[in-house]
Amino acid sequence: MTDVAVATLGLVKRFGRQAAVDDIDLGVPYGSVYGFLGPNGSGKTTTIRMLLGLVHATSGEIKVLGSTVPERAADVLPRVGSLVEGPAFHPYLSGRANLARLDAADRFADPRTSRARVDAALERVGLLSAARKRYRAYSLGMRQRLAIAAALLMPRDLLVLDEPTNGLDPQGTREVRNLIASLAEDGATILVSSHLLSEVEQICSHVGVMRQGRLVAQGAIDDVRAGARPVVDVATSMPDEATSVLHGLGFEDVVPTPSGVRAVTTREGGDGAGAALTLRGASPESIVEALVAAGVGVRGFAVQSPSLEDLFVSLTGEGFDVSE
Ligand SMILES: Nc1ncnc2c1ncn2[C@@H]1O[C@H](COP(=O)(O)OP(=O)(O)OP(=O)(O)O)[C@@H](O)[C@H]1O
Ligand SMILES: [Mg+2]
Repeated sequence: MTDVAVATLGLVKRFGRQAAVDDIDLGVPYGSVYGFLGPNGSGKTTTIRMLLGLVHATSGEIKVLGSTVPERAADVLPRVGSLVEGPAFHPYLSGRANLARLDAADRFADPRTSRARVDAALERVGLLSAARKRYRAYSLGMRQRLAIAAALLMPRDLLVLDEPTNGLDPQGTREVRNLIASLAEDGATILVSSHLLSEVEQICSHVGVMRQGRLVAQGAIDDVRAGARPVVDVATSMPDEATSVLHGLGFEDVVPTPSGVRAVTTREGGDGAGAALTLRGASPESIVEALVAAGVGVRGFAVQSPSLEDLFVSLTGEGFDVSE
């Protein structure tokens, strides 16, 4: 649990009878941008609040930058910048004055250099020219940037950002995304939550996917993507014949599609980590050959890997309803 920036072991948080976070083992490698994904109510914010020592876990262990939380929280949290439901900004003060107040409240910050820290943070998030504007006149995107600036007042080894793109328009989302990417380039480890894969996919090196309090997938984004099973799409006007040929080749899962049939590849050698994903030992060429030999007219043929979005949807469930 020490070679990662954030680690949890068997982390649980119950509210009454509900397990909002249900036995999760999080691993956020140093230097990664870790997308912490999951639909509304899946337990992201609750997990993040535990990592930051804002709520107590029901059970389990937490290590942040090598220190145990909450026991050593006071030592380690100064190295962690966070955005969780935003700090309380004063509506009638300017962005700069708001940051100056927060900086003054930080007992680790030297008051003599406050102005330089505040301006550097404002510049980092592109708010320097709007620094004198009152907070209440800020747009949603500017407010979100100010919240990130607050997390950047001190140099941080780890940034924990809970839904930093929440409520932003596409332009604002893009800007925050670029900001996160550039913070990562500067060497910080970043844990960023979102309920939308598309908002963070381009900047993440790793993802963790939550569903109803459980961590249902985690790892380097390419490995998670590789875990998706490829499909074989056959466009044909003879779906029944194509299905029996594919069954004959060992594909168990063959379903009709508007243009023909789709066969889902299966894992060989069990479900273990080493299990290979194959087309049941058949090459694409041999599949086409078998279809043609059986007299199936093939209009189109493709072996495709599901997109990460498909995988995300299948992991988290498609339902729009927020689960209890
Ligand atoms: N203080 C609380 N008391 C009771 N239940 C809570 C409390 N905080 C969270 N919950 C419940 O825990 C579950 C997880 O909530 P959480 O806020 O962690 O989800 P989330 O993944 O952050 O969702 P969202 O994407 O909507 O922010 C939800 O069912 C929520 O109702
Ligand atoms: Mg949340």
